[in-house]
Amino acid sequence: MAQKPRSPALTLIDKLPIEGSKVLIRVDFNVPLEDGEVADDSRIRAALPTIEHALDRGARVILCSHLGRPKGKPDPALSLRPAGSVLADLLRREVLLSETPVGDGPTRLARDLRDGQVLLLENLRFHPGETANDDGLAKALAALTDFYVNDAFGAAHRAHASTAGIAAHVRDKAAGFLMAKEVEALGRLLAAPREGFVAVLGGAKVSDKIGVLQKLTGKVDTLLIGGAMAYTFLAAQGHGVGKSKVEDGHLGTARDILANAKRRGVKVLLPVDHRCAATFDADAPVRNVTETDISDELMGLDIGDATAAAYGEALRDARTVFWNGPMGVFEFPNFAKGTRAVAAAIAASDAFSVVGGGDSVRAVNESGKADAIDHISTGGGASLEFIEGRELPGLTALGYRRSL
Ligand code: 3PG
Repeated sequence: MAQKPRSPALTLIDKLPIEGSKVLIRVDFNVPLEDGEVADDSRIRAALPTIEHALDRGARVILCSHLGRPKGKPDPALSLRPAGSVLADLLRREVLLSETPVGDGPTRLARDLRDGQVLLLENLRFHPGETANDDGLAKALAALTDFYVNDAFGAAHRAHASTAGIAAHVRDKAAGFLMAKEVEALGRLLAAPREGFVAVLGGAKVSDKIGVLQKLTGKVDTLLIGGAMAYTFLAAQGHGVGKSKVEDGHLGTARDILANAKRRGVKVLLPVDHRCAATFDADAPVRNVTETDISDELMGLDIGDATAAAYGEALRDARTVFWNGPMGVFEFPNFAKGTRAVAAAIAASDAFSVVGGGDSVRAVNESGKADAIDHISTGGGASLEFIEGRELPGLTALGYRRSL
């Protein structure tokens, strides 16, 4: 059964009279590919409730998405064909694929669509107008359809032709169920009481997370920091970090965030031990460093066991949890342990939990405990920008106004 969340600030697809009409649904099928196959189909599955709703109502469904960053030119390696065939399997029906995102071919295919048929437009970013939010492309997309639905939360932070510009050229527009579900879950985090709110932030760069760190410092009572960005914080505190990745230009930012947290009474936990190596290499021998300081010849590639235990403890009694970003170099199996431990701790807690960002979501899926997480966001950058309180063009185009 399709889950149909309600978001008072958004009009949903089920309010549109789409029976027997064409519906253009902007989805986020920007999925990882390996050897030409879809390596993780979560984003495709997440779009199913909206697509199935439209098909159940007898609409003619036109889907569009970007994949990767082909820079406005066709690139066969970034075709949506693999995503289309996964979708066809999931829907158990044929999915037509156009050769180009717009033009005579898609226009003809869209015109000849019959009720209950699905057409997937080829990668929107094969056209330079998509990322430029070109009005000509926005009009051409709008001309294919009777109704416009945006279900691409993962791309809602982009002001592109298919997420923003198109809205001015369609008569009726609405959000899909995934978009609404994301807005509800992330909005619930922002409205959560500070008491018992733990945020876990990891990943490579402090610079990517400054906005969200600042925002969350005013919201949470505990902040757990891991991943390469932890070394910038440790270096800012004067610890030895050896050859670990440090953003020298952001040592001051890290200090400011720590000072701000202290002022607001937010507990910040940083790694107290590490899994290190002498080189950045999947097969590099693991060197366990059992203290906070790392010697000159080593680099930290994962949090150590004591850190994972401390983070686990902080998560155990949490009432609300937000997690974005891995605790180490998750793609190297020898340095994935810390990220897995955090995934397991969040799954085991009774907190309302939201996980966003590719690697953290993968860790949760691989831990086999995805069902224990309340909301797994399909948005990486989009979920961070939403939490920062920034305006998301894809939502604004649907008439959404933030109430927080
Ligand atoms: C994502 O994967 O975060 C979204 O699909 C947006 O992709 P982009 O960062 O290439 O715009």
